[in-house]
Formats: sequence, C-alpha cells, structure tokens
Amino acid sequence: MNRLQKIIAARGYCSRRKAEELMAQGRVKVNGNVITEMGSSFEDDVEIAIDNKPLVSDNEKYYYLFHKPRMVVTTLQDPQDRRTVADFFKSEKVRLYPVGRLDYDVSGALIMTNDGEFADYIMHPRYGIRKTYQALCQGKVSKYQIRKLMSGVNIDDDNYFTKALDAGILKYDEETDTSIIFLIISEGRKHHVKKMLIAADIVLEKLKRIAIEFLNIADVPSGKYRPLKPHEIKALYGIFKGQRRN
Ligand code: URA
Repeated sequence: MNRLQKIIAARGYCSRRKAEELMAQGRVKVNGNVITEMGSSFEDDVEIAIDNKPLVSDNEKYYYLFHKPRMVVTTLQDPQDRRTVADFFKSEKVRLYPVGRLDYDVSGALIMTNDGEFADYIMHPRYGIRKTYQALCQGKVSKYQIRKLMSGVNIDDDNYFTKALDAGILKYDEETDTSIIFLIISEGRKHHVKKMLIAADIVLEKLKRIAIEFLNIADVPSGKYRPLKPHEIKALYGIFKGQRRN
C-alpha cells in the first residue's frame, strides 16, 4: 500500500506535490470515487483517473534539458492560450512535465521529465540544487551591489533572508550602459532572482537561467531540448544522496 500522491508520481503523471494539488481540487478518482484525503493509501496497481481520464502505468522514464524561450509559460495548459512548454514536446509519446518553474519572461534551462520522484528530489529545498542565472541589467552594477547579493537580502512580506552562493559582474557595455551579471542560488521562491535584484537596487532587463547544477544550456538552442545522459542522471542522484561535488 502506498499513498495516492506517491502512486500518481510513480506512474510519471506529475510530481507528488502536484498530485496533492490535483487531489485537493477533487480531480482525482480511485475506482470511480473522488479522493481528496491526503493520507489515503492504495495498492500500486489501483485504477486511477485524473479529470476522468484513466492513468496508465508508465515505467519508462524520460529526462530532457529544455532551453525555454521567453514568452512561453511553464505549464502544460494555459487559460490565456499562450505558448506553453508542452507545445515543444508534442512529438514525444509520453506526457512530460516541467521540473520547477521559469517565469513567462525568463528564458533558459528547464528539466522536463515523466519521473515524478526525480522531480520531487530536484525541487526539494533540502538538496539545494544550484541554479545559475545570467541577468542583463541597466547601468553599471557595482561591486557593492554584488556583495549585497552575496551577503544577503530580504525579500517578500515575511522578510525572508536569502543570499547568492556566488555572484559576479561579467561585463559592462558603455554604449548601451548595461551590465551582465551572474548569480547562483539554491532556493526558488516565486520571482526569487527578480526580488533579490530589486532588493540590491539593480534594474533588471532580461533574465536567463544558464544552468541547473552542471547542466548548461550553452549547447542547446532556444526552443530545443536534449535528453539527459545516463551519467548526468546518476550525478544528480549523487547530489540527492548527499554526495555533493564541491
Ligand atoms: N527567479 C525569477 O525571478 N524568475 C524565474 O523565472 C526564476 C528565478
């Protein structure tokens, strides 16, 4: 017997957290009955339907590194009919979903998978998965502002204290009076980087996530994706098991 959200994630439909959301919304049925109780346990091969569509078991796992373009939503459907990440994976036979989120106006690295357990690991704050961002900013970003990002700023209504694991100035262009900076964070509140930059008085023009840990999107053109290599998946599991590289 396992909890329903775990079975749904194991079948590759979505992450455990997402499954809990679907359950809370009354969209999950077991043997024809709506289940909203989070503690409900069933046999792994139980008959599940989501939005009245049967959920088949899918043992084969797929992992992709996607280079999300700007002006694409990180959801599978959009009520406003904007382009979604799912539009780029239509030719894949399994249903893939995004691991974590990138804002509509943010481009860059996004993992797409049908492995719910893996997605939960990547998103769990405990494992501190490092994400590297590159930001095009107005004016000349100062060393003081970079130090501020690294020593920590407060964001959100609860004054959450957060700092970059690393940050630096990559370039200042006098002609356009813009700077390119990078920062690495292991947290992921909504609009996290944007809020950190505001707190450091940095005016953002464009944000791009250039890497998730060692998965760099430099070799993946915008709007394209590549499968993760077995050694990359293994290395990520190494992090989850506490064998972090320095
Ligand atoms: N931080 C943001 O502000 N937006 C993103 O999409 C990711 C991190």
